[in-house]
Amino acid sequence: MKDRDKQTKKDVLILGIESSCDETAASVVKNGREVLSNVISSQIDIHTLYGGVVPEIASRKHMERINQVIRQALSEAGITLSDLTAVAVTYGPGLVGALLVGVSAAKAIAYAAGLPLVGVHHIEGHICANYIENKDLEPPFGCLVVSGGHTHLLRVADYGKYEILGKTRDDAAGEAFDKVARAIGLGYPGGPKIDKAAKEGNPEAIVFPRAKVDGSEYDFSFSGLKSAVLNYLNGAAMKGESIVTEDVAASFQKAVVDVLTDHSAAAVDEYGFKAFAIAGGVASNSALRGSIQNMCDKKGIPFYMPSPVFCTDNAAMIAVAGYYDYMAGKRSGTDLNACPALRLGEH
Ligand code: KG4
Ligand code: ZN
Repeated sequence: MKDRDKQTKKDVLILGIESSCDETAASVVKNGREVLSNVISSQIDIHTLYGGVVPEIASRKHMERINQVIRQALSEAGITLSDLTAVAVTYGPGLVGALLVGVSAAKAIAYAAGLPLVGVHHIEGHICANYIENKDLEPPFGCLVVSGGHTHLLRVADYGKYEILGKTRDDAAGEAFDKVARAIGLGYPGGPKIDKAAKEGNPEAIVFPRAKVDGSEYDFSFSGLKSAVLNYLNGAAMKGESIVTEDVAASFQKAVVDVLTDHSAAAVDEYGFKAFAIAGGVASNSALRGSIQNMCDKKGIPFYMPSPVFCTDNAAMIAVAGYYDYMAGKRSGTDLNACPALRLGEH
């Protein structure tokens, strides 16, 4: 392990592995910003049958697919294990059984091939997805991370250095999308379905609350909004009125996007960010992308967002985060374990 660690190679090739939820993914990234391969095996079809991710099924599917996904990532990149500089893997947060599959595979490869191992925080991966297509982007900048499990507004102080300004007190933004989609009969996964339905609806049709969290300007709360949508649906059902799904989707989406944009705008003003980025699965939402773009245009600062394929879970973002961790000298041992509740900045 040590020999390769010291070896000076021109190009740094990182194999990234991601298995924290329902995507089995592997990717090879060159010098932190050039994606040579990005293989994603989604389990969405199986989990759709159950209306959401079933953890035991997720782990089993990861086990069935991980070796093939890694093999494919190496072959599409046109390299073998001996060309790699290091192996980076998501070790938290996420579903413990799912994380363990990726962590075990990464440890086995690193050990067998004598490569350094770098444990990566999943949210750090999402943030780093912005570096892939935006070669000019460098810290410091403000970032809104919105995924199925997380809603964080933060200051990216430097590579690997984050200051959390606000986070959700209850549901994550993506969780709210998924729950509301289920309630209005759009099914799983909710985010993309609401995004699509909202394009045909009127965002002003129903006024849903924009929740503020007392005493914390940058924290979020989405459970009240979710309840307001459920109350609206129950009220309509009791009165025997039919609902316009597209209007509910558009009005709900507008309420989420308004809150996310207002908080981001306030942070840009207070912290004087010279650039702003979004990340995570919900960052692929078309209304959110448009609204934050608009906010940044008004403030005269550049706005960065990954292509949708790099917003939702993927391993390229893990390889990029792993690259910056590797360059900063961070290494994990063979005792690396899955940490389902890992906090940003804890590793
Ligand atoms: O980042 P991600 O793939 O996984 C987590 O780390 O959680 O995010 C998944 C979340 C899901 O809640 C999904 O509904 C949401 O991202 N999502 C969207 C869209 N695409 C995915 N939410 C709103 N609009 C979308 N277009
Ligand atoms: Zn994610």
